[in-house]
Amino acid sequence: MNFNTLDTSKTYLITGAAGFIGYYLSRTLLERGCRVIGIDNINNYYDVNLKYSRLEILNPFEKFTFIKGDISDKNMIAAIFEEHKPHVVVNLAAQAGVRYSIENPDAYIQSNIVGFHNILEACRHHPIDHLVYASSSSVYGANHKVPFEESDRVDNPVSLYAATKKSNELMAYTYSHLYKIPATGLRFFTVYGPLGRPDMAYFGFTKQYFSGGTIKIFNNGDFENDLYRDFTYVDDIVEGIERLLCNPPLEEDNVNHRVYNIGNNSPEKLMTFIQTLEKCLSNSLGREVIFEKSFEPIKPGDVPATYASTDLLEKAVEFKPKTSIEEGLQKFADWYCEFYQLSISK
Ligand SMILES: NC(=O)c1ccc[n+]([C@@H]2O[C@H](COP(=O)([O-])OP(=O)(O)OC[C@H]3O[C@@H](n4cnc5c(N)ncnc54)[C@H](O)[C@@H]3O)[C@@H](O)[C@H]2O)c1
Repeated sequence: MNFNTLDTSKTYLITGAAGFIGYYLSRTLLERGCRVIGIDNINNYYDVNLKYSRLEILNPFEKFTFIKGDISDKNMIAAIFEEHKPHVVVNLAAQAGVRYSIENPDAYIQSNIVGFHNILEACRHHPIDHLVYASSSSVYGANHKVPFEESDRVDNPVSLYAATKKSNELMAYTYSHLYKIPATGLRFFTVYGPLGRPDMAYFGFTKQYFSGGTIKIFNNGDFENDLYRDFTYVDDIVEGIERLLCNPPLEEDNVNHRVYNIGNNSPEKLMTFIQTLEKCLSNSLGREVIFEKSFEPIKPGDVPATYASTDLLEKAVEFKPKTSIEEGLQKFADWYCEFYQLSISK
């Protein structure tokens, strides 16, 4: 291996620690023995019980400190940096979701732009070893060339969410250039798994099924030209982040900033994903599960395909996501049935 492995003597500040990916990353780092400072405003974009359930698992770790706060509060962020002096910062707090950015654009500017700017300012005034931050595959917009490569043009975002993520990459580049902050942006591709986000399709379909409803599939009902998504299991995301944490980019052309895709590199048709979910739920429950489906037009802001090239990531840390949807969705289905305590006979 030609990259550094995780340094457990360092303090890791993780924003969005009660969120889906933030929780898994925090747990992994705590299990390795690292000190983790978690920040989250526990907003009610989705069921806060899930956020509290994640925190319940993190709280018993002696080296975990949780701070309920908003990254758009500049003074609070500065005070946290001053007090805890993190070596590595992972910014995952953000208003996520493509469709919600049409309903509530303000939330995206507040958390993703103002909040991220506060993190950059804090890193400027309290030098750190590495800033890792969440971008998104949505920056590729409606690009047709696949797989998506980090060198592709990403100047045509089709949602405000995507525009904020692309802005984050530009802001981080500038701060890295001006203040020598080593920074790595990660373009995540549709992340799923147990304790995941209820606003995402696989979770929503499952919930809808158990409440006896019809699932709406926004793909025009055209299976030949179905949407393709690179579905990435959360453990793969965490392993990718973990490997990158202690490998800040080296300075090149006066800047030490890099952007990587983290995706499965194996896109699936939306319908294949749904049928696999049905099978996995059938396995969990011991009876056949078939969703009631209705097919709807593609929603504004949704993109036809996401497909990650992982060459850069592999070169940097010798890793590419590998979990199949059969394996990952089975873990989700088993967790869902247990978490919501569904009886085998419904
Ligand atoms: N899950 C995915 O498929 C995916 C894909 C691409 C990018 N991302 C990005 O990865 C990051 C993590 O996503 P996730 O799926 O874990 O989402 P999540 O919504 O579960 O986690 C984000 C957490 O941040 C918190 N938060 C939001 N705004 C905040 C603020 N202003 N101050 C403090 N806390 C705040 C929320 O309460 C939430 O717990 C986000 O930046 C998201 O945009 C996720």
